[in-house]
Amino acid sequence: MRKTFRPGHYHFQLNSFFPLLFLSFFLSFGIPLIANSSEEEIEEAIENHSNEDIKRGERFFKGLLPTNREFESCVSCHNIYKSDTLNWNPSAMDIAIKFAGKDFTEFQSAVMQPNGIKMEASHKNFKIEDEDLKKVKLYLDDLALTGPPSAGPTLNQIMLFILLGLLITFALLDLIFFHKIKFRAVSVLILIVSLGFQVKMVATAAIDLGRTQDYAPDQPIKFSHKVHAGDNQIDCKYCHHTAEFGKSAGIPATELCMNCHVLVREGTNSGKFEIAKVIDAYETKKPIEWTRIHNLPDHVFFSHAQHVGVGKVDCKQCHGAVEEMDIMRQHSDLSMGWCINCHRDTKVNFKDNAYYDNYMKLHDQLKGGGIDTIRAVDIGANDCMRCHY
Ligand code: HEC
Ligand code: HEC
Ligand code: HEC
Ligand code: HEC
Ligand code: HEC
Ligand code: HEC
Repeated sequence: MRKTFRPGHYHFQLNSFFPLLFLSFFLSFGIPLIANSSEEEIEEAIENHSNEDIKRGERFFKGLLPTNREFESCVSCHNIYKSDTLNWNPSAMDIAIKFAGKDFTEFQSAVMQPNGIKMEASHKNFKIEDEDLKKVKLYLDDLALTGPPSAGPTLNQIMLFILLGLLITFALLDLIFFHKIKFRAVSVLILIVSLGFQVKMVATAAIDLGRTQDYAPDQPIKFSHKVHAGDNQIDCKYCHHTAEFGKSAGIPATELCMNCHVLVREGTNSGKFEIAKVIDAYETKKPIEWTRIHNLPDHVFFSHAQHVGVGKVDCKQCHGAVEEMDIMRQHSDLSMGWCINCHRDTKVNFKDNAYYDNYMKLHDQLKGGGIDTIRAVDIGANDCMRCHY
């Protein structure tokens, strides 16, 4: 959890807990899922079939049908549920969205005529009847439409919370008005236990809310810093090239990915699927919607230029061993204490530092009589990045 000196911090978290609880409640349903095909088209495709067909497709996908199959189930590689560990294979949802609205023959040739090294290795020895594969396609279309099975815990927790609330109300009413329960101690016990549980739930949620350290959300493309900055030794600043002179380190545009991925079309771990997304984004000119991970509040000013360009602080000191991360994760807690403690401990190097050389030069010139005034512009006040984000 974040440590701050602001006493109002917990207050903020508890106040915003309930709106956020309900927000997450709504968000766990119906996120728009269909990216590149119209909903009606898919609905139409599904409509002509019975629910039974979709169910059979699902069973086939999960390896329950046919009983005498000799190849792996689709689900053993293509996750249906979100998993905590990185799965380089496309998820069921990924495939569903890619082929939603496309016709069966296209899907069939993608599955049955694998092309590419990874694909050939994974989809070998498939013996699938057309009829079965058609149902798999139906199941996937349905998945694309309805979204992945809703994340159970959130819903259960909310239900539990409400149930506990009802229990408390009941116990209170009984104690004060109805006296239906003979032994008052029972009501009191129900009251205390339920309330205890509720407080615990609120506290856990409140702590999680403020916690951003180790935050590692799923990204739209399985971009790996380990593959790029680690295995292939690409310099951080090749992609985050504003880190040296700008306030923000920036996220590279798709064009920059294409410098290499015009040629590199298949990855060792993910095959063609993930890189195909990059190429698709480039060709359709749709920006890739990376989820932001590090995020200081608006009232804090932080400049990469001051730390990377001037201070020569290594990315690693703040972001950890990024070159070992397959999934980007927030390394530091970004609390005020974190900033302050580093400033207390870190020595500033005045020597051979263009930033300070300038101050020294001006100072010497002033003393030597070469100049008689120093204007703000001389100490860089008109550098674009001093005022602009
Ligand atoms: C090939 C391009 C590339 C290279 C090289 C690269 N990055 Fe990144 N970086 C990205 C992309 C794309 C994202 C957004 C996706 C993600 O978060 O994984 C990102 C995200 C990040 C983030 C998180 C941004 C956020 O949302 O808060 C940090 C921190 C970061 N990179 C640091 C580094 C460091 C440190 C290095 C060098 C060790 C490095 N990157 C090398 C492309 C690159
Ligand atoms: C300087 C060259 C370069 C740049 C720029 C670059 N990549 Fe890569 N990328 C590579 C190389 C090399 C591989 C590894 C290919 C392999 O596994 O043989 C790779 C692999 C990948 C993979 C597949 C990983 C795997 O192992 O399966 C993805 C996905 C990917 N890159 C996405 C991106 C994205 C998104 C960007 C832009 C933010 C980007 N790349 C920018 C060189 C680059
Ligand atoms: C051994 C693991 C494995 C199994 C089992 C498997 N797949 Fe795949 N599948 C992959 C991988 C890996 C890729 C991506 C490879 C690539 O893009 O190069 C993929 C890609 C796909 C694609 C996308 C192809 C494209 O052109 O974009 C579809 C569709 C697909 N699989 C369907 C299925 C179905 C249906 C089954 C079950 C009958 C199945 N897969 C079983 C590993 C597997
Ligand atoms: C002194 C600590 C520190 C150092 C050194 C540092 N960063 Fe950051 N970085 C941060 C903080 C703090 C944020 C969050 C900024 C915000 O939310 O405004 C951040 C955010 C980022 C982001 C997200 C986009 C953005 O700019 O807000 C990327 C990408 C990133 N850093 C990459 C790098 C790279 C690459 C290096 C090394 C060249 C580096 N950082 C060095 C502290 C640091
Ligand atoms: C890893 C150590 C480290 C961390 C963490 C760090 N800083 Fe710094 N910071 C430095 C160093 C070193 C300098 C001096 C750079 C220089 O030579 O100007 C500096 C300078 C600054 C300055 C500029 C002072 C001036 O000259 O005007 C500001 C503002 C600043 N930091 C803000 C922050 C904020 C905000 C955070 C937390 C989000 C933070 N820093 C985290 C090391 C750090
Ligand atoms: C001393 C602070 C400062 C510096 C330095 C500065 N700007 Fe600005 N800039 C501003 C302010 C304030 C505005 C908003 C003006 C407005 O809204 O009328 C602005 C607006 C802009 C705009 C928007 C144009 C418009 O009319 O809305 C651009 C583009 C811009 N600046 C680029 C730059 C570039 C490039 C540099 C570096 C050469 C730079 N600025 C340096 C303060 C600064």
